[in-house]
Amino acid sequence: MKPRDRLRIAMQKSGRLTEPALDLLNRCGLTFRQSRDKLFCFGEGEPVDLLLVRDDDIPGLIAQGVCDLGIVGRNVLDEFRCTASEDVAALTEWRPLGFGRCRLSVAVPQDMDYRQPQDLGGLRIATSYPGLLNHWLKAQSVDAAVVTLAGSVEIAPKLGTADAICDLVQSGGTLVANQLRETDVLLESEAVLAGPQALPTDERGDMINLLLKRLDGVIQVRE
Ligand code: PRP
Ligand code: ZN
Ligand code: MG
Repeated sequence: MKPRDRLRIAMQKSGRLTEPALDLLNRCGLTFRQSRDKLFCFGEGEPVDLLLVRDDDIPGLIAQGVCDLGIVGRNVLDEFRCTASEDVAALTEWRPLGFGRCRLSVAVPQDMDYRQPQDLGGLRIATSYPGLLNHWLKAQSVDAAVVTLAGSVEIAPKLGTADAICDLVQSGGTLVANQLRETDVLLESEAVLAGPQALPTDERGDMINLLLKRLDGVIQVRE
């Protein structure tokens, strides 16, 4: 890969994290020139550019070195760490960012007789987080079938393609609308600043350290 001298940050193109992430970067003194539909936004003051992508692609882009940092949900980062092959660069959570809070939970149909995780034994559970779900099932010694879906997971029990689900819960509105009941929380999530475990040793590393310092200031002011 061609060496870069500008820092590149990946973030969600359009979704719940987009506006607060941009706002946070602005507060850190970063402003971007091009329009957001271009998916690549050139940084005006500092040598820091933005890449707007699907959130699920962010950990992979950092691991490949295409981006230096990413603003992404802990759920997406941890799912990547759960499932990535061993030769992929190790990623780490540099800072929790305090927005986009939600949880990854198991939910069952409201009329299901559920008392404990063992009640999921032999059932099919639909999720977009097979790595995290399998990890939790193993820890609970539960043998269940994991059905991986890219989205609209909450509809699966009604369609008969799964008996329970494991998905993100924020307000709980989607669960209620689909007559589901939250039973177990697997992960408390929020937006985080993700990056490689080892910072680049060139100017980009210096820029990251500067950014982290500003970020800490901004986060402290907000608390
Ligand atoms: C997320 C998540 C749930 C819903 C939870 O989906 O997958 O479906 O939000 O939020 P609630 O508890 O406030 O209802 P999102 O709408 O972000 O779309 P996606 O599943 O396609 O990513
Ligand atoms: Zn997503
Ligand atoms: Mg959803």
